Amino acid sequence: MNTDIKEEILRLRAELDHHNKRYYVDNSPEISDAEYDGMMRRLENLEQEHPEYDDPYSPTRRVGSDITKGFTQASHIYPMLSLSNTYSIEEVDAWVRRTDEGLAGHETEIVGEMKFDGTGISLIYEKGRLVRAVTRGDGEKGDVVTDNVMTIRSIPLQLTGSGWPDFFEIRGEIVLPWKEFERLNAERAFNEEPLFANPRNAAAGTLKLQNSAEVARRGLDAYLYYLLGEDLPYDNHYDNMMAAREWGFKVSDAMTRLNSIAEIDSYINYWDTARRELPVATDGLVFKVNNLRQQLNLGFRAKSPRWAIAYKFQAERALTRLRYVSFDVGRMGNITPVANLEPVLLSGTIVKRASLHNEDIIKALDIHEGDMLYVEKGGEIIPKITGVDTSAREMAARPIEFVSHCPACGAPLVRVEGEAAWVCPDKYNCPPQIIGRIEHFVGRRMMDIDGIGEETAKMLYERGLVRSIADLYDLRVEDLENFEGFGRKSAERVMDGIRQSRQIPFDRVLFALSIPYVGETTAKKIARSVRSVDKLMSLGREALESIEDVGPRIAESILDFFASESNRSIIERLKIAGVQMELPEEEGGQKSDRLAGKTIVISGVFSLHSRDQYKDMIERNGGKNSGSISKKTDFVLAGDNMGPAKLEKARSLGIPVINEEDFLKMIE
Ligand code: IVH
Repeated sequence: MNTDIKEEILRLRAELDHHNKRYYVDNSPEISDAEYDGMMRRLENLEQEHPEYDDPYSPTRRVGSDITKGFTQASHIYPMLSLSNTYSIEEVDAWVRRTDEGLAGHETEIVGEMKFDGTGISLIYEKGRLVRAVTRGDGEKGDVVTDNVMTIRSIPLQLTGSGWPDFFEIRGEIVLPWKEFERLNAERAFNEEPLFANPRNAAAGTLKLQNSAEVARRGLDAYLYYLLGEDLPYDNHYDNMMAAREWGFKVSDAMTRLNSIAEIDSYINYWDTARRELPVATDGLVFKVNNLRQQLNLGFRAKSPRWAIAYKFQAERALTRLRYVSFDVGRMGNITPVANLEPVLLSGTIVKRASLHNEDIIKALDIHEGDMLYVEKGGEIIPKITGVDTSAREMAARPIEFVSHCPACGAPLVRVEGEAAWVCPDKYNCPPQIIGRIEHFVGRRMMDIDGIGEETAKMLYERGLVRSIADLYDLRVEDLENFEGFGRKSAERVMDGIRQSRQIPFDRVLFALSIPYVGETTAKKIARSVRSVDKLMSLGREALESIEDVGPRIAESILDFFASESNRSIIERLKIAGVQMELPEEEGGQKSDRLAGKTIVISGVFSLHSRDQYKDMIERNGGKNSGSISKKTDFVLAGDNMGPAKLEKARSLGIPVINEEDFLKMIE
């Protein structure tokens, strides 16, 4: 009977692997999404019922896990080098001639390929299975990110076909396709989280997430372009990559053999524009000598091979006149210089403003009044100023001076030590800072008060109705209903939101207060640890720094915040208004420290509580969850059907294994 089940599990795994490749690598699915999902569910159920057939390489494992653990590091077998760059066809042609000469005049076949703009990855396969994935790191060693990489559907966990060496490495680029990048940023905008500047940053950031379930959701993809090992199937790069494609890897269709300078030139000319149609970001082309023996002869420079070269695409760039520089004041008082430009068309959108970031950048570019400026977009969403056409400068033009006083409130600016930013120190009287804090306070992830946006916050402030976040709780419908664009209905909606915000838990209130450096996660940790604002206000520097995630800078910022008379009065008024200034006893908080200092691994299937509930209990009793058994593990909390390998490991290390009843007694 059970052999039937085992067979079905194995069959489903093989079929799902196959369809996975058809979908994610070949872009030509054979079955409908619904059929695929049906098979996946069937396999999930079987695996749940039969953990004895557990396999970490099962396609069901592509969803990741939410276990948090730091990354370990591993050395690269061969260092991960970079490529030297060229920016013109002539430079590429010159490189081809140099390599021909270097090879005693033998005509060399060149392989042309895309330069993907993501983050480099090294994958190690043993006996056809992915065993390790390591980031580029410093080129010598990188972070082991295998769990995260295993969620990328286009990376085969088990190779297909034949002819792969028992042990080899393959390198490529992990990318976030434009479509996923835009989706992710839209989601982040909605949640008022900082946006990723480009798909490269988003891919690199995603790969380093601690939560592989989140990685799985983000939709990373991978293109492979370099096979390394002792016994590769062919003596040339191109055939090896085509073999890799047969084994299940995604190798770009753009990869092609080029046999003359003329062919190389037309390849460049073609992709210079055609690359805009690709689903992923590219920043150039790469040319490689095809023959591996010739590669060996050409060898390496200090940081890059002589047998390869990158050709970088021109970023899309426009030249336009600077009208004036304005200075924005942020919620935390940071002053950001902004170039206000004569409108100019740049890759499909009209650009009127571009951030100049800080004073150092203005100085480095030596921008003068009325200058003609180069604006670039190159994969970034916010355009940036990259240069000045000084030949177009008026003789009398003066250099742009950074303001010395806050453009909003007139306070003399101060420069943050070790940072390039100038800050307006008058936090509690500077209007844009106050308005910014009101806007932040009402935001969705903070107090979630609907109906107050940037404009309304400004109006409320300017009419003197809301001069601090505490004033929100004194608002009446009559105050609002005569506002422009407001009626009774929208006024009531805001009042409703304000009323309901009294239920928002203390950790979110703490985040809503805009204490510098206290972000969402830090606020959560502080709230869980101190439980109430009164307690937080009573803590000294040392006590603050003993809170998880709170270092000297955050501690200083908290002390500073509560030292302000006006902040203390705001807190008092919020309390009176009924805003949650402490965490309720029963929920979320630390219950005991019975498990303090203990590292615990959860394994198997439980019947009394869910796995997540057990994880939570461990944390609330001061313990730490860990994903894998090691010498540091204090005990394993085991449900039914704990994997035999784990059991054996625990046994061999002499680590106690306890069941759920005993665990519950332990923390009772
Ligand atoms: S080959 C020794 N091929 O570009 C040669 N690299 O600037 C190693 N990259 O670190 C790299 N597309 O992360 C190669 N088709 C391609 C590439 C590529 C993108 C990245 C890679 C590398 C960086 C070098």
